[in-house]
Amino acid sequence: MWISVCLISSFLHITAGCTLLVTNYGKITVYSGQSVLLPCSCSKTQAKPPSFTWTKLRGQQTTEIISTQSDLYRGRVEMFNSTSPGNLSVLLSHVTEDDQGWYRCQISHEKYSDVELTVEGCTLSEPRSRVVNASPGQSVLLPCSCSKTQAKPPSFRWTKLRGQQTTEIISTQSDLYRGRVEMFNSNSPGNLSVLLSHVTEDDQGWYRCQISHEKYSDVELTVEGADTVGTSEEDPSSSPQQYNTIQYTLLAVLPVILIITGVAWYIYKRNKGKKNTGEKSSGSKTEGEKKDDPSVMYDTVQEPRNNNQEETTTPLSAP
Ligand SMILES: *[C@@H]1O[C@H](CO)[C@@H](O)[C@H](O)[C@H]1NC(C)=O
Ligand SMILES: *[C@@H]1O[C@H](CO)[C@@H](O)[C@H](O)[C@H]1NC(C)=O
Ligand SMILES: *[C@@H]1O[C@H](CO)[C@@H](O)[C@H](O)[C@H]1NC(C)=O
Repeated sequence: MWISVCLISSFLHITAGCTLLVTNYGKITVYSGQSVLLPCSCSKTQAKPPSFTWTKLRGQQTTEIISTQSDLYRGRVEMFNSTSPGNLSVLLSHVTEDDQGWYRCQISHEKYSDVELTVEGCTLSEPRSRVVNASPGQSVLLPCSCSKTQAKPPSFRWTKLRGQQTTEIISTQSDLYRGRVEMFNSNSPGNLSVLLSHVTEDDQGWYRCQISHEKYSDVELTVEGADTVGTSEEDPSSSPQQYNTIQYTLLAVLPVILIITGVAWYIYKRNKGKKNTGEKSSGSKTEGEKKDDPSVMYDTVQEPRNNNQEETTTPLSAP
C-alpha cells in the first residue's frame, strides 16, 4: 500500500515536472539538404510529459509531423525521448524549402514552445549562360553552382542540348560520357559543376544544368578546331524569347484581323441584304414559293435583324 502511494506520488511528481525550457526558440536557419534539430525540452530532462506533439503551423491549419505516419516526414524524423524522456527535440533531415515555417512542440493545451525554421535553398548563380573553351584531349569544367554552395537542390541534371532533343550526360550511364565525367557535389552539395575530360570536337555545343523545370543555366562549350559552322547553334535560352515575340505579334495582329473581318462581313451583309430585299420584292410572288426556296428561309432567319432597319422591312412584309 505504502509502496503504491509512493509510486503514484512520484509518478504525479514527474508528470507535473515537465516545464518547457523555452517558449520561443526564435529563428533557426539551415541550408536545404541539411538536417536540423528543432529544440524542445523539459527543464528537467528526466521529467516525462504525459504526451507531446510536434506540429507544423500553416495558418489556421496544423499538420502533425511526428513519426513516420505522414508522407511529408516519412523517414526524415528522429526523436530522442526514449533515452531522455524530457528531451522532446526532433531531428528533421533532408530539409527542403517546403519545410520552411513555424513548428510547435506542445505538451498540453496551453503549454507549448515554438520555433521558426528558415531554409536557404539553391539559387543558381548568375550568369545564366556562359562560354567555355577547350582543346581536344583536355579536361574542361562546365560550371554550375548554387549561390550558396552549402545548399543542395532537390535534384539536378546535366544535359547536352541538340535542337529539340536533349541528351542526358550525368554519370557513366551514357556511352558518350562513360569515364569522362566527374562531379563535386558530394563535398559541396551546391557545386553542380561537372568536369568533362578527354574532350573531343564532338563535345562542342550547348550544355544545360537544370535544377527544376524553370531553373537552369547553360554553358556553351567551344572546342578548338571543331567545325564551328556546322555545330555552333544559337543560344538555346534565347528561343523561348523568340517564341514570346511570335506570341505577342500574333496577339497584336489578331484584333486587327478580327476588326477587318468584321467590317468586311458587315459590308458584305449590307450589300447582300440590299440585293436580297430587291430580289424579294420582285421574286416572292406566292407564299408557296417562299417556303420551298431555302434562300427565302435564310432571309426569314435574318428578319429580326432587318426589322431594325426601318426601310428594308416594308418590302419583306408587303406581299
Ligand atoms: C516518445 O514520444 C513519442 C511521441 O509522443 C511517443 O509516442 C513515444 O512513446 C515516446 N517514447 C518514450 C520512450 O517515451
Ligand atoms: C536532445 O537530444 C539531442 C540529440 O541527442 C541533443 O542534440 C540535444 O542537445 C538534446 N537536448 C537536450 C535539452 O538535452
Ligand atoms: C566546384 O568544384 C570545382 C572542382 O573542385 C572547382 O574548380 C570549382 O571552383 C567549384 N565551384 C564553386 C562555385 O565552388
